[in-house]
Amino acid sequence: MARILLGVSGGIAAYKALELVRLATGSGHAVRVIQTPASRRFVGPDSFVALSGAPVLFFEDEADPLRGAYPGEEPAGELPISHLALAERADLYLIAPATANTIAKLAHGFADNLLTAAALACRAPLLVAPAMNERMYLHPATQQALSQLKARGVQVIAPGRGRLASRGEEGWGRLAEPGELLARCEQALAGGDGHEHERSLAWLRGRRVLVSAGGTREPIDAVRFLGNRSSGRMGYALAGAASRAGAEVMLVSANAQLPAPAGVRVLAVQSAADLEREMIAASPSADLIMMAAAVADFRPREPADGKIKRAGRKRLTIELERTGDILAQLVGARRAGQLIVGFAAEHGEAGILEARRKLKEKGVDAIVYNDIADPTLGFDAEENAVTVLAHEGERRLARAPKPTIAEGILTALHELGATRQLADTSA
Ligand SMILES: Cc1cc2nc3c(=O)[nH]c(=O)nc-3n(C[C@H](O)[C@H](O)[C@H](O)COP(=O)(O)O)c2cc1C
Repeated sequence: MARILLGVSGGIAAYKALELVRLATGSGHAVRVIQTPASRRFVGPDSFVALSGAPVLFFEDEADPLRGAYPGEEPAGELPISHLALAERADLYLIAPATANTIAKLAHGFADNLLTAAALACRAPLLVAPAMNERMYLHPATQQALSQLKARGVQVIAPGRGRLASRGEEGWGRLAEPGELLARCEQALAGGDGHEHERSLAWLRGRRVLVSAGGTREPIDAVRFLGNRSSGRMGYALAGAASRAGAEVMLVSANAQLPAPAGVRVLAVQSAADLEREMIAASPSADLIMMAAAVADFRPREPADGKIKRAGRKRLTIELERTGDILAQLVGARRAGQLIVGFAAEHGEAGILEARRKLKEKGVDAIVYNDIADPTLGFDAEENAVTVLAHEGERRLARAPKPTIAEGILTALHELGATRQLADTSA
């Protein structure tokens, strides 16, 4: 586990740095936070103190009560310690969010506050995550400053495109999500150069990707339905990750209450029959199909037209019939060079065996196995932990936010060799 120094500068996205500290400390890292004075307008230090378990510093002349120690370490004795001790002892320094102002100063080597001075004093990998509105981000001054930083070996974590923190603003400049920031820190700590991420997802560029997400609803009568607890977050995260990697993505979404990921075409459906129809219709042109939706196995055979009345009944029996096996149909109709990935939510120890059986028998290229025994993971949760099973191997992805898991799944498909059978589009 590492000592992570986090520099927070003054943009609206500073609130996301709180979540990053929560994730990083939850993963066992020791985090110390430096804020710029301007950032205090957005997030006060108390939340960072509570989440990191250590004081927050702003100024160069401020005494550090921990004398440069990270949480879990003994503070040094009485010896005076440099105001830059935190930077000297860090295994990694991440500045997130990095404002246009701070980026410009870093590019020119300014040291006018503790955050910028620490960047000059730090010999550990420096990662910078810009966040600002699109005009500021695309301005040549910011772009040149970022190029200068990259040329010096600083890893720039590119912002995403989408809704920005300022109300009504949209475009490039959205701070990378906390899960991605942590994943990038961990790659850098493992000696990465910051480009692994793009390389491992490069296979998606120009591909057509079809994803199903959410949970189907099967009508019992005009107002009631049989449903399930799927929120759609995993499928939305997969669609978003594939789109960011340059794929053309269509998402068939069953009853999910989530914003459409940037650049993704979303088609809303309700029942298993709707989902089946849309998936089958869209599948011929897809290079990659991922069936992440939780689809009902059974539906009421004869849904009532009106509302079934309570009066006069002691019991109600609803006869169910099987729904269609969408995955089997997709596999049956697959064209050469198409990759099909199924999802299996199973319970407990026997679950992985069941997932292996499905991989063999269903004719899919990979299965993403989700153990739903832990109620804090999977269905309707922000986080997940899965195993990707392909014919040439398996990869376990440890507990992480769903956007991170989504990228892990797409990376694993490639690294386990499942993507080899995709038709070559490079010609
Ligand atoms: C409401 C508000 C929101 C702001 N959001 C951002 C932002 O997202 N990104 C950015 O680069 N600057 C933003 N700024 C401008 C910075 O706060 C300003 O440039 C400040 O000097 C940055 O100082 P620092 O880099 O030392 O933290 C915002 C300013 C205000 C008043």
